[in-house]
Amino acid sequence: MENPVKLEISRRGLFISSAAAVAVASAAGRVAAQSAGNEMAYTTKVSFSVNGKGQHLDVDNRTTLLDALREHLHLTGTKKGCDHGQCGACTVIVDGRRINSCLTLAVMHEGDEVTTIEGLGQPGNLHAMQAAFVKHDGFQCGYCTPGQICSSVAVLEEIKANIPSHVSKDLNAAAAVTPAEIRERMSGNICRCGAYSNILDAISEVAGIKA
Ligand code: FES
Ligand code: FES
Repeated sequence: MENPVKLEISRRGLFISSAAAVAVASAAGRVAAQSAGNEMAYTTKVSFSVNGKGQHLDVDNRTTLLDALREHLHLTGTKKGCDHGQCGACTVIVDGRRINSCLTLAVMHEGDEVTTIEGLGQPGNLHAMQAAFVKHDGFQCGYCTPGQICSSVAVLEEIKANIPSHVSKDLNAAAAVTPAEIRERMSGNICRCGAYSNILDAISEVAGIKA
């Protein structure tokens, strides 16, 4: 038969453990409530232009530009691949420069001009690069394509910007752009479907060179 003293101790122990558990739970609840309150304090208002339209957001400071575009502005043309700067699927153009939007915070872009794939062109009014990708089958699944196109557009501008001022800015005439240079500059945009040769054909057509 069970020893009554031992049973009593055991009940007291149980009572003490339960009381401690309640205290811990209530402290945890307070911490959770407090951090929820703090989270609200950790948001920032930011204004920038996206595809020529002013946008005003109040975002968690940790929100990437990519998430601001996709989740807040519902511009889902910009894709999330790796979410840490390795695939280029999230490439957008900010103030004329291509960037990986997963690697930058939305709050860092106050006053900036952001261009996404939606801003380059739309069905019926495609950008020359979009049309060239369609013409040359520069994609298979299409997941990397918005990033590839934004990057391609910026790449040709980068090459033009590097042409000395006394030389024609016509890429072909200046012999400034070669397939090797395009490949190198596009190397941050990964295509899992391996549509690289068609992508190069598309960019070369827009640049006016032979791939
Ligand atoms: S999603 Fe940004 S680089 Fe891959
Ligand atoms: S077209 Fe599929 S990943 Fe590039």
